[in-house]
Amino acid sequence: MEFKKLINERFSCKKFSTRKVEEEKLQAILEAGNLAPTAVNAQPYRVYVLESPEALAKLDALTPCRYNAPTVLLLVYEEKEEWKNPLQVGIHSGVEDVSIIATHMMLAAKDEGIDSCWINYFGNDALEQAFGLPSTEHSVLLLDLGYSDNFAPLPKHTQKKPLSEIVKRI
Ligand SMILES: Cc1cc2nc3c(=O)[nH]c(=O)nc-3n(C[C@H](O)[C@H](O)[C@H](O)COP(=O)(O)O)c2cc1C
Repeated sequence: MEFKKLINERFSCKKFSTRKVEEEKLQAILEAGNLAPTAVNAQPYRVYVLESPEALAKLDALTPCRYNAPTVLLLVYEEKEEWKNPLQVGIHSGVEDVSIIATHMMLAAKDEGIDSCWINYFGNDALEQAFGLPSTEHSVLLLDLGYSDNFAPLPKHTQKKPLSEIVKRI
């Protein structure tokens, strides 16, 4: 799909049908994520694919925001691999790295005809414990994937602040 059309038409889907995400489409989405840049190319991210009834049930106990998506990606970073800014104490790249990977995936999903929703409404500690993540892996977001069940974009999808309010030249 042409890029401008794709970024205009992508929206957060909050009601998915039971139609499964085809394996080749999922692979294309995962590959697109892996093409994203990361700080010093450290690639500290990991992706957990949640599709089994057990994993999805576990997730439903942690967040109301799966919206019946048949596939959910859990994106985390490994703290031992993220870049640490030597010029600023406490600034590490893990969350930034995961965010750009998820953005690639979200847009690739749209290109594959798959709807998505980025989710951060969950307790990170509870989720990491429930899925038995190593203590050095930190959860950042969930990406719901599937086919919209006739869900129309919410009105706020098109409510954008004007650039004049956002962009400052200094
Ligand atoms: C960082 C981030 C966190 C989000 N967390 C949630 C969430 O937990 N639950 C949810 O339903 N939507 C979530 N969303 C979706 C936003 O609500 C949605 O992107 C926003 O309202 C704009 O709508 P649009 O994506 O349709 O343009 C999140 C989006 C982003 C970028």
